[in-house]
Amino acid sequence: MCGIVGYLGNKNAKEILLSGLKELEYRGYDSSGIAVLQNGKFDSFKAIGKLVNLEEKTKDFVTDNFSIGIGHTRWATHGKPTELNAHPHIGDESYVVHNGIIENYAELKQELITDGVTFLSQTDTEVIVHQFEKNLNISDSAFEAFKKTISELKGAYAILLVTKSTGETIFFAKNASPMILGINDENEKYFASSDTPLIGQCSDVNYFEDGDYGYVTPTELVIFTKDDVKKEAIFTKLSTNKLSAQKDGFRFFMEKEIYEQSSVIADTLLGRLSDDEILFNELDDSLLNGINEIKLCACGTSYHSALTASYLFERYAKIKTSTEVASEFRYRQPIMSKDTLFVVISQSGETADTLETLKMAKAAGLKTLVICNVDNSSMVRLADACILTRAGVEKGVASTKAFATQVTIFWMMALYLAKRNTSLSSQEIAKQIKFLREVPSIVKVDDEMHERIKRLSKRYLHGHGFFFIGRDVFYPLALEGALKLKEISYLHAEGYPSGEMKHGPIALADPELFTIALLPQHLLYEKAKSNVEELSARDSTICVISSQEFDKADDFIPINECTDYMLEFFEMMIVIQVLSLEIAVRLGNDVDMPRNLAKSVTVE
Ligand code: G6P
Repeated sequence: MCGIVGYLGNKNAKEILLSGLKELEYRGYDSSGIAVLQNGKFDSFKAIGKLVNLEEKTKDFVTDNFSIGIGHTRWATHGKPTELNAHPHIGDESYVVHNGIIENYAELKQELITDGVTFLSQTDTEVIVHQFEKNLNISDSAFEAFKKTISELKGAYAILLVTKSTGETIFFAKNASPMILGINDENEKYFASSDTPLIGQCSDVNYFEDGDYGYVTPTELVIFTKDDVKKEAIFTKLSTNKLSAQKDGFRFFMEKEIYEQSSVIADTLLGRLSDDEILFNELDDSLLNGINEIKLCACGTSYHSALTASYLFERYAKIKTSTEVASEFRYRQPIMSKDTLFVVISQSGETADTLETLKMAKAAGLKTLVICNVDNSSMVRLADACILTRAGVEKGVASTKAFATQVTIFWMMALYLAKRNTSLSSQEIAKQIKFLREVPSIVKVDDEMHERIKRLSKRYLHGHGFFFIGRDVFYPLALEGALKLKEISYLHAEGYPSGEMKHGPIALADPELFTIALLPQHLLYEKAKSNVEELSARDSTICVISSQEFDKADDFIPINECTDYMLEFFEMMIVIQVLSLEIAVRLGNDVDMPRNLAKSVTVE
């Protein structure tokens, strides 16, 4: 997804912008660009593909004076990933970068074309800079022109704009797309669309609110609210931990993140477990009073953790629970009753579809909770309550540790609700808490297992498709396994409930159809086993993941014997993650930045 950086100060603007963009690479992008104004002269560079291309183009460009600069990584929405469509977009004497979508761009563009403006790109963004310059001709100041321009835009945006006539000023505006301002005691000003580029550069940050707009100069910071009221920035301290941004010797961030799961789950559990109850200090009674139903809403991997939660909530807490794909929920005019707790799940806290459903639930007067990995993200700021997953920065586009911590939170939440509803005895809760304490050691990646999967992976590089199958919570895990594999290997994979295969998909069974079967010892083992036998009888190539040997399997990946099915869930989660990783590595793919995907999808 698109990323924005901005800089005002005396240091090397080019390096600062490029390294800021590098920190945003993990979000996914297909082109990039920067524009810098120094000594009254603009220089701008754009490149398609990876940032190294932009670095190459800027290698002779020197910034060693006071300058202002803006930069962008673009994930194509309106128009193909070409150099002309890359940001910054240029007017006569101004440049703009933008995240989000300008919904009324077509009408604005038509008017500008009638006025004689020539457009270079197919993007919605380009209208901003031309509209600004049109307004500049009829305004008393550049800021007046910027303000007027913002008031004419409809849609979602984080915008930085620089113009020649005010060569020491960066204009900004934010609506439904994240934007942060960072400062330090060297009188520099930084902008970014997420924290990461600011770590190490800034001591304090201000998170802009929807509707905020204004400008910075070396001596000023002026912010207005959406109602045109001047307001003060609210600065908070920025973390200085950049260690998590390194690969720590692993080949890919995704691999490092798979290995990190043990320690991040330990963090997730920290301070939240007593011997016989779950402690969520972040939840107060008022959130759950009068709640008879829970609705979970998310996208992608987060949706799979939500689906897992729906089994646990109904089984343990005896509370009616449903799960929704956010992009579907938002347009199907759902019935929302006030005795429903609306829970959104998001690693980033910025996914546009999920964020929108949260706004809908709030507007309908529902109580809302977000399970999120990014503090201060849009969802965290909007929801009534928040439980942070504490997975740390996740850079691999294919989510791993975020999923693991989400499921951990949901398991805890099921027990928390079970205690409230007295639907489980204290002994049963205490037993489950013991299991929970085992998760950090369960998810430690065993070298031997990794090696075995690495060797096995060479047999799974072809074929006409994969079916990941499982029952109960192993069905969402099967969905997640299939998603992981297709995201990074580009092989066709589907997740299916084991019992559904006979209702159609089994027609595909032949030796070139690979079935990855999740066979937990402690949950519906015999039933799931029969489903695998049905496939084996039709000659599908079968890889079983289980603690129990299974003679009808072509391949077998053993997991440790566990005492509970949720522990088997975490054992198998590691296996499917490592298997997807090794298949993708063998196919020579860029595991951390798979084609066509974005880490944080801030457009619908
Ligand atoms: C994108 C990512 C997925 C992620 C989904 C939801 O599609 O590529 O990995 O699961 O967004 O993201 P969220 O941040 O809301 O969990």
